[in-house]
Amino acid sequence: MKTIKVGVIGTGFIGPAHVEAVRRLGNIEVVALAEVNQEVAEAKADAMGIPRAYGDYKKMLADPYIVAVHNCTPNNLHFPVNCAILEAGKHCISEKPLAMNSKESRALVKLAKKSGLVNAMNFNYRLNPVIQHARVMIKKGILGEIWNAHGTYIQDWLIKPTDYNWRINPKDSGLSRCFADIGSHWCDMIQTLMGAHVTEVIGEFMTVYKQRLRPLREIEAFAGKKLSARDYKKYRVRTEDLAMAMMKLSNGATATVVTSQISAGYKNGFTFGIDGSKASIWWDQERPNELRIGYRDKANEKLVKDASLMFPEAAPFAHYPGGHTEGYPVGTKNMCMLAYKDIRRGRRVKRPLYATFADGHVEMCIVDAVLKSAGTRRWTPVKY
Ligand SMILES: NC(=O)c1ccc[n+]([C@@H]2O[C@H](COP(=O)([O-])OP(=O)(O)OC[C@H]3O[C@@H](n4cnc5c(N)ncnc54)[C@H](O)[C@@H]3O)[C@@H](O)[C@H]2O)c1
Repeated sequence: MKTIKVGVIGTGFIGPAHVEAVRRLGNIEVVALAEVNQEVAEAKADAMGIPRAYGDYKKMLADPYIVAVHNCTPNNLHFPVNCAILEAGKHCISEKPLAMNSKESRALVKLAKKSGLVNAMNFNYRLNPVIQHARVMIKKGILGEIWNAHGTYIQDWLIKPTDYNWRINPKDSGLSRCFADIGSHWCDMIQTLMGAHVTEVIGEFMTVYKQRLRPLREIEAFAGKKLSARDYKKYRVRTEDLAMAMMKLSNGATATVVTSQISAGYKNGFTFGIDGSKASIWWDQERPNELRIGYRDKANEKLVKDASLMFPEAAPFAHYPGGHTEGYPVGTKNMCMLAYKDIRRGRRVKRPLYATFADGHVEMCIVDAVLKSAGTRRWTPVKY
């Protein structure tokens, strides 16, 4: 089988997860990475054993041997970098959110369609093996008529006023922080499972810290030193720490989610339940191998990931035998597994199980509507 040569742009937290995912597939070689400057690029390439390092992603895109590129940069670069990847004639695998707003994401969907290239988004959680089992359960009608979804995506990594990340700055992350960053995963999950889309929303945002303290850069060199007020600079916060949304979906169901980056003790508290007329399901990302199935008239069940006990459609998404736990990385591996199948074939299946730019655009439209609704405090239609 011919080896596909790929490049990765941005290698902070999630970039290396993409590198690991494609390496687990085999016959895909990460031949280059691009970073913010040449020095960082070379250090990262050396650490990850990647042969070529670029301090400018445009130079990497000129490499004719690279067939596909993963965009793992901060949100404000998703639109220009995704455009550049497609315009260079390379298949594009983008991190979420697809862009900064729905105007940009609409343009990207158009460009991707025109290019005929594979376009994938890393809404990774939908490709967890037990989630795929749940998808088939719903499709087969095992839950009955779907009425409601409920859940959370709560974390604590920005709970202190001194916690800093580019996501707090709207110029880097977009006008919504918490909902766009993690609420988008939650919405993608329930829409995928229900086979429906959000039509209307009402949102409520809360910014606990109107002002935060940003550590001065040089402090990093003295990690462990007791910091005083003089080691920080104050800045105004314009993005939300907490967002709640109620939604109506095209299948008549409702959904309610609480998202937060300031909930103590919750590290990646992505949970959801879907209630149907015959049964319900419940999943917790921190226990990713378990799917709870709830009944009114008999004891509840817990499916623990095991390909031999799952629907044949879901079994290929599990890569280790029953009892051998698979967690967060499995979703990105499965996204790459499906996307590279399409890349190898040179065309996309009509409705792939991985998220495409069209799904990324749906999320941007929901984010725009939730933002608008949080301002007007009214139910707001989602305009696609
Ligand atoms: N799907 C998921 O589960 C998941 C998880 C985390 C992050 N993400 C998404 O991935 C993206 C990156 O997030 P992260 O947490 O890895 O951020 P990060 O800050 O850890 O990494 C971003 C990297 O991009 C690099 N970069 C910045 N400008 C660049 C440029 N012009 N050229 C090349 N590289 C550049 C930075 O130096 C850094 O290494 C975000 O959009 C985020 O929403 C998705």
